[in-house]
Amino acid sequence: MNYTITIKSSGHSFTCKADETILDAALRQGVALTTGCRRGICGVCIGTLHSGCVNYLNDEEPMAFFTLDEKDVEEGQEIEKIVICEAMPSSDLILDVMEVDAPEGLEHKNLPANIIAQNPLSEDIVALQIDLPEDEYLQFLPGQNIALVEEAGTRHLFSLADAPRDGKTLTLHINTQRSSLDLTTVHQTCLRLEGPQGEFFLHSYNKKCIFICEKEGFAAIKSMMEHMISRYASTQQEMPALYIYWLGESDADIYQHQLVEKWSDKYSNIRFLPIISSQNSSDNDGNTAKLLALLSQQLEIEADYDLYISATANTVDILEFELLSLQINPPSIYYQHF
Ligand code: FES
Repeated sequence: MNYTITIKSSGHSFTCKADETILDAALRQGVALTTGCRRGICGVCIGTLHSGCVNYLNDEEPMAFFTLDEKDVEEGQEIEKIVICEAMPSSDLILDVMEVDAPEGLEHKNLPANIIAQNPLSEDIVALQIDLPEDEYLQFLPGQNIALVEEAGTRHLFSLADAPRDGKTLTLHINTQRSSLDLTTVHQTCLRLEGPQGEFFLHSYNKKCIFICEKEGFAAIKSMMEHMISRYASTQQEMPALYIYWLGESDADIYQHQLVEKWSDKYSNIRFLPIISSQNSSDNDGNTAKLLALLSQQLEIEADYDLYISATANTVDILEFELLSLQINPPSIYYQHF
C-alpha cells in the first residue's frame, strides 16, 4: 500500500510504501531531506508530524528520541516528533522536516572509495562505479562533483553521474583522453573520495530548463535529469519543459544518446537536440554557432528558462561571450567547465 507524504512548509509530496521508511522513500523519489546516521541514533532527521500515524522498524522507538528536550513541547501541548529514517507510514502524512536545497546543508565527507566496475560507454568514456564503506553514504545535490584522491595526493575532479538516491554506489564518467587517473591500475590503488563539492547543481525543480553539454559534461546533466524524472514520476504534477542540447564532434561523443532518446520518447516535456559537427570536420565553433541560432530562436519565444552549461572551458567561454553579445538573457545561467 502506498501513502502520500506531504511536507507542509514546502508543499513537496511523495509516496511511501507501508514497509518503507519515509527517508528511503524520499531519497528514492529525489526529495533531499537532511540526514545523518540513518540508523535512528543521531536525531538529525527528526521532524514534526502534523497529521497521520507512523510505525517504527521492529516496533521500537529509535534511540534518537532521547535527544528531544523541553523545546519540543510548546505551550504545554506535546508536538509529535518522528524519526524519519526509521518511521514508516500507516496513513497519509503531513509533516515538517528539513530539506536540503543548497551545498551548505550537506556534510562534506572524506571516505575510502572502492572501485567495483568499469564499463566503457564509448571509445573514450568509461563509467566508473564506486562503492562506499558499509554504513557510509554521500548526500549531494544533482550535478555536483567529487574529488578522487590518490595515495600520493593527486586529486581528480569528476561530476557525479547519477541522481542522488541512497548515496552508497556512485558513478563517474571518465574521459580517458583527458583524465590523468590511470584506469588500468586504479583498482590496485588506495583511493579516497572527497565531497560533495561545487556550485553547479540543479537550483529549482519547478522551472523550465535548457541543459547544454559536451562530451563527459553529460554526467552532471544526467544527474539533474534523472533527479527531475524521479521527482515527478510519483506525483500528479506536470514536469516542466526540459531541453537537452548535446554537442559533439561525432556520433561517438553523444555516448548515451539512447538513454536520452528513451527519456524524450517517454516524457513529452523532454526534448533532445544532439548537435554534431559536419562530416570530416572537428568544427567546434560551427556547433556553438548552430546552438546559438537554436537558442536565440527558442528564447525569443519564451525567455523563462534556467540555463545549465557543462562543457569544455573553450565552449563555455564562447557561449558566455556570445550569449551576452546576442543579449540572450534567460533568468539564470549556471556554468561548469572541465
Ligand atoms: S539520520 Fe540519524 S536519527 Fe535519522
